[in-house]
Amino acid sequence: MTARIDMGMASGSSMGLDLEELLATRLLVQGNSGSGKSHLLRRLLEQSAEWVQQVIIDPEGDFVTLAEKYGHIVVDGERTEGELVGIANRIRQHRVSCVLTLEGLDVENQMRAAGWFLNGLFDADRDYWYPALIVVDEAQMFAPAVGGDVPDDARKLSLGAMTNLMCRGRKRGLAGVIATQRLAKLAKNVAAEASNFLMGRTFLDIDMARAADLLGMERRQAEMFRDLQRGAFVALGPALSRRPVSVNIGPVETSARSSSPKLMPLPDAKPDVDVEDLIFTPSADELRDPPKRRPAPQPRPSTDILAELSRAAPAAALETVPERPAAAALDPAEREERLNAVLDEILSNPDAGFRSDAELYQDFLVRARMRRIAGNPMSLSDFRRRAAISRSGVDEETAQSEAWGKVLELSGRVTDDLQGVFLLMAKAALLGEPCPPDAAIARVYGTHSARRARRLLSYFEEQGLIVLHTDFSGKRIAAFPDLDAETAPGNPDAADEVLAAE
Ligand SMILES: Nc1ncnc2c1ncn2[C@@H]1O[C@H](COP(=O)(O)OP(=O)(O)OP(=O)(O)O)[C@@H](O)[C@H]1O
Ligand SMILES: [Mg+2]
Repeated sequence: MTARIDMGMASGSSMGLDLEELLATRLLVQGNSGSGKSHLLRRLLEQSAEWVQQVIIDPEGDFVTLAEKYGHIVVDGERTEGELVGIANRIRQHRVSCVLTLEGLDVENQMRAAGWFLNGLFDADRDYWYPALIVVDEAQMFAPAVGGDVPDDARKLSLGAMTNLMCRGRKRGLAGVIATQRLAKLAKNVAAEASNFLMGRTFLDIDMARAADLLGMERRQAEMFRDLQRGAFVALGPALSRRPVSVNIGPVETSARSSSPKLMPLPDAKPDVDVEDLIFTPSADELRDPPKRRPAPQPRPSTDILAELSRAAPAAALETVPERPAAAALDPAEREERLNAVLDEILSNPDAGFRSDAELYQDFLVRARMRRIAGNPMSLSDFRRRAAISRSGVDEETAQSEAWGKVLELSGRVTDDLQGVFLLMAKAALLGEPCPPDAAIARVYGTHSARRARRLLSYFEEQGLIVLHTDFSGKRIAAFPDLDAETAPGNPDAADEVLAAE
């Protein structure tokens, strides 16, 4: 069976979309705000409603209007994980189309709800792996290219679910159809799994360039996306067309709940009404029942939990909280040892290299509290310094040496975030070890980018801290003039031993 649905007009004839092919090859829609993406998704959903089960992840609650005409069930996203997973399972079992509306939730809870629901669909029992279109509007919200203000757990959850949907969903019958305002904001691995594209009006060069790359066009040609009208999209892909064609998306049967604001004529001024009176005098109704301000939405949690943790509890709260048994006073040596143990615990985690110092510090404070290590354990900048020393992998004996004292003194000339890399290099020089490879430098800096690692070394060189040179076989040597020491030659492209050992 092949089912072709009609998306609209392309140079005088109707443009079909092969549904069966779409199930296997997924679709990505891109266009700036107002270009007509939601309209396009609606056209696709309406035209295919009788052919295939549909699930819509709807951040704005726009698609709930499909329910009346096409029988979609509306699922409100404000539910627990257990509830959403259960509903997702039954949606697959009974093959009912549905709209998950996330309207009214704050961003992080939208991400969690979408993540749980998608995972529920994905993990459904093998018996229920029927084909379904999974449409995600505003996909950049659920699969952001970079971390934003939302907590890590929410981001990881929804990004993981979107990755599963787009990368591994096909076998399970799930076909992702995702729409985004900005390609550059969408996680690359999620975008890359779609083989069909509908590209609408796009203004920013960076989005145009990514669209051109995905479509295999010259970047110059992508300029055409700038001039597209609302509702016009360039279509390409096995389910659409083998060559890029421009299509004008056809009309829809149901309406979006939200639509663009339209200009309306102002009411005629009434000569017998005093406008000031009208505005400044409350009506009798209002006096009886004064209008209430809507409660302000809860502030988004800031990521600066550090500040929260280090803030002293308000006096009132302290009075009501029964005092905990005072943590037994520790002698300084024991305290130091316990702090070191906590530090080790955190830094020995393989992920530690790729988490920010601020995150690690927060983790550190919590653990120190749990172990009842009384007093202010360590400031963030001390923590950074200690973490840097620990990351450099310096051994006890070297750490006690006079030369290492000199290294620490020198390290004061680089900013906190570069301490780890500086100490790593300096330690290799002191001990005459091979110059660390780019991968190790990158890990200590908290990045995966070898290029950035090399830039850090150039920066040290510009600061006069090191001098780089190579031996006859092209291996890198870093000399520290102030320490009168240099590393042994090391292959910059070698694997990072620490990562390889994990
Ligand atoms: N092909 C079309 N035919 C008629 N009207 C259209 C068409 N495409 C879009 N519109 C209208 O244009 C307006 C904006 O479209 P739409 O809401 O689909 O944009 P969008 O790309 O989803 O924007 P946003 O990213 O802000 O959500 C809507 O009022 C919609 O009805
Ligand atoms: Mg939209």
